[in-house]
Amino acid sequence: MKITYYGQSCFGVQIDETHLLFDPFISGNPLAAKVDLEGIPADYILLSHGHQDHVLDAEAIGKRTGAKLVGAYEVAVWFQGKGLEAHPMNHGGCWNFEFGKIRMVNAVHSSVLPDGTYGGNPAGYVIESPAGTFYFAGDTALTLDMKLIPMLCPKLDFAILPIGDNFTMGYRDAVIASDFVECDRIIGCHFDTFGFIEIDHDEARKVFADKGKELILLEIGESKDLSA
Ligand code: NI
Ligand code: MN
Repeated sequence: MKITYYGQSCFGVQIDETHLLFDPFISGNPLAAKVDLEGIPADYILLSHGHQDHVLDAEAIGKRTGAKLVGAYEVAVWFQGKGLEAHPMNHGGCWNFEFGKIRMVNAVHSSVLPDGTYGGNPAGYVIESPAGTFYFAGDTALTLDMKLIPMLCPKLDFAILPIGDNFTMGYRDAVIASDFVECDRIIGCHFDTFGFIEIDHDEARKVFADKGKELILLEIGESKDLSA
């Protein structure tokens, strides 16, 4: 699995020939100015919730690529109304796609779409595939529900967790989250994009390292091979 970071909570994950794209927010992110929006591949666009900093570019990328959008029922229906193909899910549900299985899991946050439409409940995802298994937490607080993931899913190869605090858990809580999901290789997201979520990178890495864990902070535009 190759992962590419596009800023904020936007990641591309390539599983064999399939490109998953999570929470596209690029055109509104000055830190991602060098990212070529038109060049981002997507077969599936997975949305954690309806907030602008997670869905801004989903419509444009979906229309350009023909990608299928996956999201909470309310989010999926909203994008269907814009002409995208969408697969609605809700918490606790799994669906087998050709590349592997998506499980929608709980996130403790809020969700409204950019025009004020109710966005349902915010979510995270666990992706299981022959190439490996990972957790994309979305925007969430630290929650005990994370302990269900190792009970229900294969061992995670990596987990993408928010670490910027204020709107989500911060990196100290994310260390505890990594215990709950039983994964010591964490990729940080939802940091530095705006003032409320700026963090000290060295301090964040140290808090993980002190517990024998790895916090990976990818540069925007950087790719990394994280195969099992
Ligand atoms: Ni949010
Ligand atoms: Mn957010």
